Amino acid sequence: MSAALKAAPEAIVPRFTPLHPVLAARCDGLDLRQPLTPAQAQAVEAAMDRFAVLVFRDQRIDDEQQLAFGRNFGAVEAVPSLVDQARRRLPDNQVNDISNLGADGKLLAADDRRRMYNLGNMLWHSDSSFKPTPAKYSMLHARVIPPSGGETEFADMRAAWDALPEAMQAQLRDLVAEHSLIYSRAQLGFDDFTPEEQAKCTPVPQRLVRRHMGSGRVGLYLAAHIGGIQGMPRPEALMLVRELTEFATQRQFVYSHTWAVGDMVLWDNRCTMHRGRPYADKTYPRDMRRVTLSDVSPTLEQPR
Ligand code: OGA
Ligand code: MN
Repeated sequence: MSAALKAAPEAIVPRFTPLHPVLAARCDGLDLRQPLTPAQAQAVEAAMDRFAVLVFRDQRIDDEQQLAFGRNFGAVEAVPSLVDQARRRLPDNQVNDISNLGADGKLLAADDRRRMYNLGNMLWHSDSSFKPTPAKYSMLHARVIPPSGGETEFADMRAAWDALPEAMQAQLRDLVAEHSLIYSRAQLGFDDFTPEEQAKCTPVPQRLVRRHMGSGRVGLYLAAHIGGIQGMPRPEALMLVRELTEFATQRQFVYSHTWAVGDMVLWDNRCTMHRGRPYADKTYPRDMRRVTLSDVSPTLEQPR
């Protein structure tokens, strides 16, 4: 084919191929170094409403290009990470450093607070559910990956909701959970927060069941950040959350992404949970960058 016959970037219509029976698709055709046209951005958003996770392969983008792609779909969140901000590797406060590297570019030591804090990403969660207005989309780009492990798994909270018995759905429908970063880290025994860090972690109420705006479907809104349910004794609440989390993360609801360098994965935090999987993080670098977009309002202010 001659160069003249090659479609101009703005004429390309993205194609979507499902990667799993209930969620996730691969998106082909787009080069994320180029700005999207409004039609291309709409096609991506419509596919997100359906698949909740999209994989873009072989994207050699930098932080700026990743931010520009994100701005097609909402407002970019400031970095929410909490621990030892003065020792951050990336200067930009809109790009999350999802790596095992310190400011010197070297692997974090086994007992580094940032490493121990980052291990919380291996618990099933939804990004920024501990913020009054939580996250809409997150997008994670792989720059350096380890030789094995380090997959990211995604669970479909709408499919899980649909599979719950009606009596259970009725029991859950009006519940409100309390979310804080303190709660997810406490599950792993990380509890040495400074008073300043603690002050930033006041629990935030979120609906346990929410309607997904783009699709109109209902889904569970779960995260390791939950530390209680309003009006319920704490052990009962935590047992219920554990039970629901086990139910919602059964294999039939989960897509597991095995990374290649250049992969960009976009997910919808309003209707999925995700978690990182183990890898030899004291031996191999894993450098991922995340841009996160805000939802429009706290879940309690959203239409049922
Ligand atoms: C994240 C996250 C898991 C991973 O970036 O929000 O939870 O596999 N990442 O790195
Ligand atoms: Mn996350």
